[in-house]
Amino acid sequence: MSAVCNLDDLADGSATKFDINGIAVSVVRIGDDVYALADVCSHANVSLAEGEVWCDELELECPKHGSAFSLLTGEPSTLPATTPVDVYDASVINGQVVVTQRTIDAAPAGSAS
Ligand code: FES
Repeated sequence: MSAVCNLDDLADGSATKFDINGIAVSVVRIGDDVYALADVCSHANVSLAEGEVWCDELELECPKHGSAFSLLTGEPSTLPATTPVDVYDASVINGQVVVTQRTIDAAPAGSAS
């Protein structure tokens, strides 16, 4: 768990890149809500924090080729990216943005057998 900044340091409706324990993470603010995705696009080595935030869709658009990644699941909803980026838990505690690595086993159900 890492406190990365104050909520007030983040512009509403935009993404900001942080280095959290050696991992580049894109932190998105929409109103009083915050989201965190791995910053590197799954299609090529591009910083997603440079892209545009789609507030209504809860997506972050890659600035290079336009794939839009869900802020909730990391899944791309548009090509050319086809694989998700990692998602982190993000919350605001006492005015500070806190990002936590998820520990949930993300293996698809029913894939063994
Ligand atoms: S580098 Fe992100 S969609 Fe191509």
